[in-house]
Amino acid sequence: MISATLLRRLAKTARGAAKASYSPYSQFAVGAAVLTGSGKIYAGVNVENASFGLCNCAERSAIFTAATAGERKITCVVVYTPTPTVTPPCGACRQVINEFGPQARVLSICDSDDRLDLTLDTLLPGAFGPGNLG
Ligand code: THU
Repeated sequence: MISATLLRRLAKTARGAAKASYSPYSQFAVGAAVLTGSGKIYAGVNVENASFGLCNCAERSAIFTAATAGERKITCVVVYTPTPTVTPPCGACRQVINEFGPQARVLSICDSDDRLDLTLDTLLPGAFGPGNLG
């Protein structure tokens, strides 16, 4: 159970992070915040590239930053998009969230009160994960 206060902190972090988004091609500035098993919050932004296929989403940036700090469990991901309605996380991000947070809460927020509040196993049923490698 994640408290309302903590959810507000995560939302603020995701929203604030979006200001540092590097998105000159899409102009779609996304920010994410992940809560880890240790209770810490890590932020991420989408980082685009002139070679478009190499663009990295905000969720994955945040998760890779957390993993780099030694974190191995993710309990919540909050993603902010600068849109009037919520944007669900892409398939690649769902797979990456699954690695560290197969039961993680995934909350999408935007510029209105619209919310998408699901768990990863709902977003990616029957996921391929670490357990499938024996
Ligand atoms: N993007 C994210 O960072 N997260 C999402 O959940 C959806 C899409 C980014 C990728 C790309 O830089 C831009 O938004 C447009 O797709």
